[in-house]
Amino acid sequence: MRFIELASERLRYRKFKNDDFAVVFDWLSNSENMKYRRGEPRNEADVRGYLNWAIANADAEECKNFEFAVVLKTDNSLIGAATLMNLPDDPEIGWTLHRNYWRHGYGTEIGRTMLRLGFDTLALRRIIAGCNALNRGSYRIMELIGMRREARFIKAQRGGSALGNKWCDRLQYAILQEEWKTAEDAK
Ligand SMILES: CC(C)(COP(=O)(O)OP(=O)(O)OC[C@H]1O[C@@H](n2cnc3c(N)ncnc32)[C@H](O)[C@@H]1OP(=O)(O)O)[C@@H](O)C(=O)NCCC(=O)NCCS
Repeated sequence: MRFIELASERLRYRKFKNDDFAVVFDWLSNSENMKYRRGEPRNEADVRGYLNWAIANADAEECKNFEFAVVLKTDNSLIGAATLMNLPDDPEIGWTLHRNYWRHGYGTEIGRTMLRLGFDTLALRRIIAGCNALNRGSYRIMELIGMRREARFIKAQRGGSALGNKWCDRLQYAILQEEWKTAEDAK
C-alpha cells in the first residue's frame, strides 16, 4: 500500500518534509530526548539521513516503513514521529515526542493510531514494539494500548553516555489482530 495520511483525536500524521529539519534535529540531538534510545544523540548528517529515509519511504510505490510526522491539529506544530515499520513480515510500532510535549497522553494516542493502521487498514496479523526496560513512558504506552509483554532480554541493549554506557534490559511487547478486535468490540 502507498503512504497515507492519518488523523486521531488531537493529532494529524503526515509525510516528513525537509523543512522539518530544525525541529527533528532538536529532538534527535538532545540527550534527554534520546536517553533510552540506542547509541548517542544524533548529529546533523544523521538527521538529514533519517529525513531522507522517511521521505523516500513515504514516496515509495509500496510503503514498507510508515514514518509519520505528528502535528497538533490545533496549530500544526510538529511534536514528534510515529512509526509502523518492517512491513510486511515483521511489523513493529514506535513513537518519539519532542520533550516539550511529554505527559499529555500524546504517546498513547499515537500508539493506538499505529495499531489501528496496522490492524484495520493493513489487516496485519501481529504487531510488536520494544524499548529499553528503563523507559517506563514507552512500555506503559504498550500496556495502555493492549499489548502483552512477551520478553525481557537481559542486558541486551547498550545505553548511551546518558545511562553511563551500561548494558540495559530490553522489553518486547506484542499484540495479535484478534486481541485488538476483542478489545475494540468491548468498548
Ligand atoms: C516515551 C514517550 C513517547 C512517552 O510519551 P508521552 O506522551 O509522555 O506518554 P503518555 O502521556 O501517553 O503516557 C503514557 C504512560 O507513560 C507514563 N510516562 C510518560 N512519561 C513518563 C516518564 N518520563 N517516566 C515515567 N512514566 C512516564 C505516563 O504516566 C503514562 O502511564 P500511566 O497511565 O501509568 O500513568 C516520550 O517520553 C518520548 O518521546 N520519549 C523520548 C523518545 C523515546 O524514548 N521513544 C521511545 C523509544 S522505544
